[in-house]
Amino acid sequence: MKVLLVGSGGREHALAWKLRQSPRLGKLYCAPGNAGIAQIAECVPIGAEDVAKLVDFAKDHAIDFVVVGPEAPLTLGLADRLREAGFPVFGPSQAAAQLEGSKAFMKDLAAKAGIPTAWYGRFTDIEKAKAFVREKGAPIVVKASGLAAGKGVILCPTLQEALDAVDLMMAKREFGSAGDEIVIEEFLTGEEASYFALCDGQRAVAFSAAQDHKAVGDGDTGPNTGGMGAYSPAPVATPDVEAKIMERIVKPAVTGMADMGAPFTGVLFAGLMIKDGEPKLIEFNVRFGDPECQVLMSRLDGDLLEILHAAALGRLDQVRFGWKDETALVVVMAAEGYPGSYKKGTVIGGLNEAGKVEGVTVFHAGTKGQDGQILANGGRVLGVTAVGSSVKQAQARAYQAVERIHWPEGFCRRDIGWRAIAREA
Ligand SMILES: Nc1ncnc2c1ncn2[C@@H]1O[C@H](COP(=O)(O)OP(=O)(O)O)[C@@H](O)[C@H]1O
Ligand SMILES: [Mg+2]
Repeated sequence: MKVLLVGSGGREHALAWKLRQSPRLGKLYCAPGNAGIAQIAECVPIGAEDVAKLVDFAKDHAIDFVVVGPEAPLTLGLADRLREAGFPVFGPSQAAAQLEGSKAFMKDLAAKAGIPTAWYGRFTDIEKAKAFVREKGAPIVVKASGLAAGKGVILCPTLQEALDAVDLMMAKREFGSAGDEIVIEEFLTGEEASYFALCDGQRAVAFSAAQDHKAVGDGDTGPNTGGMGAYSPAPVATPDVEAKIMERIVKPAVTGMADMGAPFTGVLFAGLMIKDGEPKLIEFNVRFGDPECQVLMSRLDGDLLEILHAAALGRLDQVRFGWKDETALVVVMAAEGYPGSYKKGTVIGGLNEAGKVEGVTVFHAGTKGQDGQILANGGRVLGVTAVGSSVKQAQARAYQAVERIHWPEGFCRRDIGWRAIAREA
């Protein structure tokens, strides 16, 4: 099969790496890819959001199957345009991608389907929003409904902070049109986890759990990032909790989407808060998490190409796969200054040596190749991923590999997996 993979992050490098292991894979193209992906696929210089060019490329190169990594092209209708042109696609339609693209849409679906989640109100009127905040009191959470690159959520411990957050989004328009509508919701407590399910429009198949570290600093301190590390499986997602997630959250959502004429095909990523064994939905995403994908791919025991292709064709009942009896953990290395401003173009060395540590694979995110060197080309740059017999062993291997990477302008957290390791002890 000739496959086109769309995206350029660590998530897409992990997908490319696992697709490569499939005996069914012929040629693999990636648009636009990165320096790591270029070692295992042919990268083509088309942006992930350039819908028209991607469709033309698929036609010109007689692509058999397209896998879309990031959410932005999905919310722009890339999967719809490709399907109209006759290509099977792993990734939801524009209508189904609203589950991520509009938090207000997602909350309405959850309410209609009876999915356990925080109570909420949705508002386009600033005074009505403030009245709701005053009525409910603090703590409370204020969210821009649209895509805001992971920055549109404000947790408000006090009433005043909540009123200020409403002003920030609706009067000052800090998040632009993403804040045209806002969602105000209940502040949930518990332990967070990410759950993944593959969907073929009708069916949903469990695809395991992971936990990530969003804050930039050790001890989960400092501003939030796209994710500084992750591990899988997630100890908090016991088999009993997993069953509740599938029955109460994932399946009702997939059925609800099919019933409204927007069947969901792709990976449904449920962000969850789990308390006393009871999962509640925080949000849905419509693609793999980054860096969660890196740990899921490291554990997957199966033919990724066959699995994703079956999902795209509505035949998930026909595939079988399992999970390695190992824990995977990824440490993200980022450019100094991230998530604020950072330099590009610094030289990274030692990657081959790092990859020789037992159980380790170094996935690239923001990198580019130039004159035989690997240069940093983004905020999050590498995902140093290790498998091991415990979280502790996977963590030790990942940091051993980090030590071999020579990149003075980069940094990473030193405590990825701490919560799970405390549980193991
Ligand atoms: N209702 C809530 N109660 C407590 N924490 C929340 C709530 N909603 C979101 N959060 C926290 O904020 C983070 C980001 O919120 P989320 O809805 O996932 O938006 P996004 O990922 O689009 O920024 C979550 O990972 C969680 O830590
Ligand atoms: Mg989130």
